[in-house]
Amino acid sequence: MAKRVLMCPPTYFDVRERKNPYMRLPIDRVRAQQQWDKLRRALEESGVKVEIIAPVKDLEDMVFAANQVFIGYSEKIGKFIVPSEMRHLIRQKEVPFYVEWFRNKGYKIIALDLRGEYLEGQGDLLWHPDHSKIWAGYGFRSTRGGVEKFAAAMKELGFQVTLLQLVDDHCYHLDTCLCPLNNEAALIYPGAYSADALAAVRQGWKRVHELGREEALQFMGNGIVANGRYITPRLTSNLSTILAREGLEPVVVDTSEFEKSGGSVFCMKSVIE
Ligand code: ARG
Repeated sequence: MAKRVLMCPPTYFDVRERKNPYMRLPIDRVRAQQQWDKLRRALEESGVKVEIIAPVKDLEDMVFAANQVFIGYSEKIGKFIVPSEMRHLIRQKEVPFYVEWFRNKGYKIIALDLRGEYLEGQGDLLWHPDHSKIWAGYGFRSTRGGVEKFAAAMKELGFQVTLLQLVDDHCYHLDTCLCPLNNEAALIYPGAYSADALAAVRQGWKRVHELGREEALQFMGNGIVANGRYITPRLTSNLSTILAREGLEPVVVDTSEFEKSGGSVFCMKSVIE
């Protein structure tokens, strides 16, 4: 599904505050850079064009390029972004750099009045693969109020947003427990959702494939689908079977350094086409 993505090199990547239950030290920066390079190469070898945004000193999580803006295209207004309101102060500082990048490329900016609410971009907001609707997680990082304001703005553009309450703190972003594989199939970890949210997910996809909690906590649901491949930090026989059923070829890329900050491959890019 990804044709063109935006990535940010991990030059200043570090773990400084406990933003999620995974965070642990120490970070090996050399290793982090090697892992990031391998992810970039795996994307390029899958036919994905990789664009780069310059890293900024002291913004240690800027490498997680999925979170700072939500990206879309609408018949009415063309290419647009919705800037995030990040929960952590240090991450709020990343947002203007990403907004500028997109402004320079001609994207319209839909700035929501999010005062008192949080909204964390494509960590919690995922397009259905056919771009007909959007899945929106809340509970740990984005707030319900934040995703409601987002949903109202998207409604004006003709997009329906389904709100999904997350209940497992290890699945603090929707991209840790929902990975759209194609229009009909999704990979999920069911324990991450409230009962209503799980029912909505089951209704929204023809085939729902399940990961166990251990698999989810090892970020196997945080993969990238690109031209018939599924880039994942690791593989179990359960995941292999699911991918084979959906006609996807697994490509394993180690992201152990980034997992110490609670992120893996999906979090390290945003899809711009
Ligand atoms: N350390 C980062 C944070 O907690 C990790 C972000 C992971 N990104 C994601 N899309 N899940 O904010």
